[in-house]
Amino acid sequence: MKFLIATTNPGKIREFETLMPGHEFEVLPSGYIPPEEDGKTFIDNARIKARAALGGVLPVIAEDSGLCVEALGGAPGIFSARYGDCETDGERNALVLRQMEGKTNRAAFFECAAVCITPNGQEFVSSARCDGAITHEPRGDGGFGYDPLFERGGRTTAEMTQAEKNEISHRGKAIRGLLKMLEEA
Ligand code: IMP
Repeated sequence: MKFLIATTNPGKIREFETLMPGHEFEVLPSGYIPPEEDGKTFIDNARIKARAALGGVLPVIAEDSGLCVEALGGAPGIFSARYGDCETDGERNALVLRQMEGKTNRAAFFECAAVCITPNGQEFVSSARCDGAITHEPRGDGGFGYDPLFERGGRTTAEMTQAEKNEISHRGKAIRGLLKMLEEA
């Protein structure tokens, strides 16, 4: 099948390239003005993004995702992309590490809600999470966003190959679930 993936995030686009073998997709143009993500959950925001990008002939897939840290009451959560009004991933990572200073509970998870809406309005939703822990310092050059801080099985997701991350990641699991629902529909 061919889809429109409702994102301009280069990190996510790289992941979609390996997460959808056998399918084709287009992404939004880089000048695209995204809708306001004013939902209260990852699913709300994924649906907002999917609906905003609908209108063509292709089914739209949108996803909303983020890092939830137990000791920070679930923050950054749905505000992951704009946490602390920081400009860069590096600043956001530094902020999380500062907020985690002295915390012994390092448990955290990534969550992803993926929504597909077809041109005739049918909607499919798939959510997944990936459990891990916040490191004491950033490690690894791969991935994007909070990957250098998120450790699972002794390595951060920034220290994994894309295939290794896809196998365990929130996005990998949510997109595989979504594609299975579409195949069975
Ligand atoms: P969204 O584009 O509003 O869904 O924002 C998602 C944000 O959550 C990203 O910009 C990253 O900061 C963070 N995030 C989501 N998934 C990942 C991941 O797989 N690795 C690292 N950070 C992620």
